[in-house]
Amino acid sequence: MIQFSHVSKIYDNSYKALHDISFFVDKGEFVFLTGESGAGKTTLLKHIYMDEFSSNGQVFVCGYDAKIVHQKKNAVSELRRKLGIVFQDFKLLNDRNVFDNVAFVLRVTGHKEKEIKRKVFEVLALTGLSHKCFNYPNQLSGGEQQRVCIARAIINDPWVLLADEPTGNLDMNVSNEIFMLLQKINSWGTTIIMSTHDLQLIKPYHYRTIELHQGVLIKGADSTLKPKVFGGRN
Ligand SMILES: Nc1ncnc2c1ncn2[C@@H]1O[C@H](COP(=O)(O)OP(=O)(O)OP(=O)(O)O)[C@@H](O)[C@H]1O
Ligand SMILES: [Mg+2]
Repeated sequence: MIQFSHVSKIYDNSYKALHDISFFVDKGEFVFLTGESGAGKTTLLKHIYMDEFSSNGQVFVCGYDAKIVHQKKNAVSELRRKLGIVFQDFKLLNDRNVFDNVAFVLRVTGHKEKEIKRKVFEVLALTGLSHKCFNYPNQLSGGEQQRVCIARAIINDPWVLLADEPTGNLDMNVSNEIFMLLQKINSWGTTIIMSTHDLQLIKPYHYRTIELHQGVLIKGADSTLKPKVFGGRN
C-alpha cells in the first residue's frame, strides 16, 4: 500500500529532514509514527500525500509512483481521492459550519446535494457530531474540532487515513475517544498511519511503531521491503 525505498529529503534551505528512509505499510495496517518534535513525522506524511517529493529514493502510495505523480498534472488530486488526511493544524474553514466543512470535498468533486446530505450526516453520526452540525469551528472544543477533521478525512471512504498528531493538545479522555474512533475506522479495512508524541496513549496498544530520530528511521521498518506488484487496493 505504501513503500518508501531509501528516501531522503533535503528542503530548499539545505536542511536534511529525512535520511535514507525505507519501510513498507501493508493494506489494513494501523501504524504509529513517533519521534521527537522536529524528527520528520510531518515531512514523512507529506511525502505520502505528495505535498513534498523526495530528493532521493522512491515513494509508492496506492499504486502511484511519486516520480510520475510529480510530473503529471492531476495525478496528485487523483491520488488524494484515495487518501484521508487529518492535518496537524486542522485546516478547518472558519467561515463554514461543521456540515459545510465536511461537505466541502464532495461539493468540489461534484456530488449531488442529496447524496452529500446522506454521506455527511452518516459520518457526523459516526464521529459523534450530529448535534454540532450547524456550529462553526470557533464554537467547538478542541476534541470536537479534531473529530470534524476526521469526519472530513473519511467522507470519501479513503484507502489510507493519515492522521498527524490527532490527539495533540487534548486531554487523556478525549485522546482515548479519538483513538478509539481511529481504531473503528481501521477495523473496516482502512490503513491508518497516526503520528504522535503521546507515548502514554499508545503504550497499551501493540500496533507497529515507526520511530524517527532526527530524520532517521530507528524502529519499525519491518526489516525488509517486500517485493510486490503495486496496483489496486493492495
Ligand atoms: N519547508 C521546510 N523547509 C525547511 N525545513 C523544514 C520545512 N518543513 C520542515 N522543516 C524542518 O524539518 C524538520 C522536520 O520537521 P517536521 O515538521 O517533519 O517535524 P515533526 O516530527 O512533524 O515535528 P512536530 O512533532 O513538532 O510536529 C524540522 O527541523 C523542520 O524545521
Ligand atoms: Mg509534525
